[in-house]
Amino acid sequence: QRRGAEFVMFSVPSYACQRRTSLDNRNAVLTDALSLLADNAELSGDEGRGVAFRRAAAVLKALPKPVTDTTQLRGLPCLGEHSLRVIKDILEDGASDEVESTRRSERYKALKVLTGVFGVGVKTADRWIREGIRDLQRLRDSGPALNRAQQAGLQHYDDLNQPVTRAEADAIAEIVERAVASVLPGAQTTLTGGFRRGKLTGHDVDFLITHPEEGREEGLVPKVVSWLESEGVLLYQKTARNSYLEGRDGPGRPSSSMDRFETCFSIFKLPREEKRGAGQTHGAACGPEAGHKPWRAVRVDLVVSPVSQFAFALLGWTGSKLFERELRRWARHEKAMSLSSHALYDNKQRRYLRAASEEEIFAHLGLEFIPPSERNA
Ligand code: CTP
Ligand code: MN
Ligand code: MN
Ligand code: MN
Repeated sequence: QRRGAEFVMFSVPSYACQRRTSLDNRNAVLTDALSLLADNAELSGDEGRGVAFRRAAAVLKALPKPVTDTTQLRGLPCLGEHSLRVIKDILEDGASDEVESTRRSERYKALKVLTGVFGVGVKTADRWIREGIRDLQRLRDSGPALNRAQQAGLQHYDDLNQPVTRAEADAIAEIVERAVASVLPGAQTTLTGGFRRGKLTGHDVDFLITHPEEGREEGLVPKVVSWLESEGVLLYQKTARNSYLEGRDGPGRPSSSMDRFETCFSIFKLPREEKRGAGQTHGAACGPEAGHKPWRAVRVDLVVSPVSQFAFALLGWTGSKLFERELRRWARHEKAMSLSSHALYDNKQRRYLRAASEEEIFAHLGLEFIPPSERNA
């Protein structure tokens, strides 16, 4: 079936956690289109369709070369009829009508803007749209009762929708490490999320904190928050206590999909680095206010894990979200195991499988180890 030297057939395993997916995406035009349809499905409350489009996009992200012809995709997993049609339209016509009309639709644009406010989910955005609130100006004016998170989200909208750079993530890491070291010496802070996967920008900065002596980490979040508040670093924070109890909330139980760690979802006030880009002038995108404000708002997530659960928490908070979802699906359907960010439970042996490293968790799951930089599914 080869049509000359240029023609390549692709082959990839079906679960994203069985494949290496680097940041070097050779099919960005196609995956951007499928991601837009996934966003639209999720924004419409159709999570199943959203996942289907995300799985299809993830397959294309794992290919070593650009797709030039749909016949190259024969036999690939996760590419449903709908995704294949979109891919075919783009390869043949340069664009997909469905994607372009979705991109332009008032409802899609309104949902994107409103859910772009920190603290606003799909359900809230949908309700507001039905009430006639479709943009930020209307939201500010007509003022439906906003909760504390949404108020902060609206107030810092521009900053929070500007990607966080790696340099900013490193500056935040320095602050978090100073806070942690001063309230609990010996505690360890690890950068997780997209930056651990090697991404150059992110929508927030994620940290996982632990202490080598089990139990010493208890109550760490409120102490770190007090320290950060006394230094004037926090614009917003919402903390949650640890509510995980093995056995009661173990991964064998239905409630397990929710994390029960001590967490702090926050907004930092990060001083602008004067030296950074000193030689260059502010671009047009950088308005007069943005140029003069000596700080910017950055979303920061802090998670505290007991050391016995650290490997699971590290794996669970490194992402990508689809990679995590696929790991759990693999565990459940192929291994009869339940994986969470707290533990791994073997449903046949009826026991927890311990692990001190990510490598051990992959081994328990019968998977080849995939390093963080290859989890960009
Ligand atoms: N996560 C989680 N529970 C939450 C929020 C996030 O387990 N309540 C996990 C996600 O599944 C993901 C990781 O934390 O694996 C990071 O999430 P997030 O910051 O949303 O995504 P990133 O991959 O870091 O992407 P970005 O760079 O845009 O921040
Ligand atoms: Mn369809
Ligand atoms: Mn993140
Ligand atoms: Mn996050």
